[in-house]
Amino acid sequence: MRLTGKVALVTGAADVRSIGFGMAQALADEGADVVVNDVAAPDELEQRAEELIAKGRRALALQADVTDAYQVKQMVKQTVEKLGRLDIVCSNAGIIRWEPVLEITPRQMQAILNVNLMGNVLVCQAAAQQMIAQGDGGRIIITSSVQSDLQFPVTPVYGGTKFAMHTFVGCLALELAEHNITVNHIGPGWVRSALNDAAPDQQTSADIERQKAGVPLGHRPGLPYEMGRAAVYFASPDGDYVTGAFIRLDGGLALGK
Ligand SMILES: NC(=O)c1ccc[n+]([C@@H]2O[C@H](COP(=O)([O-])OP(=O)(O)OC[C@H]3O[C@@H](n4cnc5c(N)ncnc54)[C@H](O)[C@@H]3O)[C@@H](O)[C@H]2O)c1
Repeated sequence: MRLTGKVALVTGAADVRSIGFGMAQALADEGADVVVNDVAAPDELEQRAEELIAKGRRALALQADVTDAYQVKQMVKQTVEKLGRLDIVCSNAGIIRWEPVLEITPRQMQAILNVNLMGNVLVCQAAAQQMIAQGDGGRIIITSSVQSDLQFPVTPVYGGTKFAMHTFVGCLALELAEHNITVNHIGPGWVRSALNDAAPDQQTSADIERQKAGVPLGHRPGLPYEMGRAAVYFASPDGDYVTGAFIRLDGGLALGK
């Protein structure tokens, strides 16, 4: 229970299979009160908050679009109004499109850039402003991807935004160090969340078996809760001296590539 008394905000956490909810659960299990956010599925989001309350934590569902600066600011404001402060933010919301550069439309491109770049920047900005005002540090954790390091076909724009997070995290870590705010990112490899439901290479049971075979450790997908444990590491005292870092959480998927 190393996060007792801390308040966390996790974006992109409405779906029960999502990495965001895995993070919210892991943070709550460690004692944190948690705000779950999503742009979609308000009923599901409420349900996620109820599940955290059932763990004995304070929890709140706040619907907001992370690409909208006003909504992001309001989300942070409401977090502080209702739960008193903000110590940990998991900027996790993200979208993917499987479109090669030769086919992707400007509209699809813009949608990815808006959520995966602009959304992260806006959430980190609003959270950091609040943490600085509180005056006792904070923890920012971004969900990037193994695509921060690796290149795959058909996701060039998505991959570009995840690579960009690597630089963004380093720059922000430097900017916020004097305020004792750490900034780190995690790189999931393969999690069977809704994000992957439309993945062209995950449509049949043969596809899934092929994906599993590609994971050296355990031949299985990662679990959202396992991603959450890494967020707990960065958020807890174990992460006191860690900033600008990246943890791949991929069962070794990236090794040898
Ligand atoms: N699933 C994987 O294998 C995998 C691998 C690497 C990285 N990731 C990253 O993990 C993060 C979480 O994805 P996931 O796998 O849990 O997928 P998911 O689709 O279950 O969760 C993402 C959530 O973000 C929400 N969202 C989208 N746009 C938003 C916006 N504008 N404002 C607020 N919320 C918004 C969606 O509604 C969705 O609920 C993403 O950043 C994704 O890129 C996932």
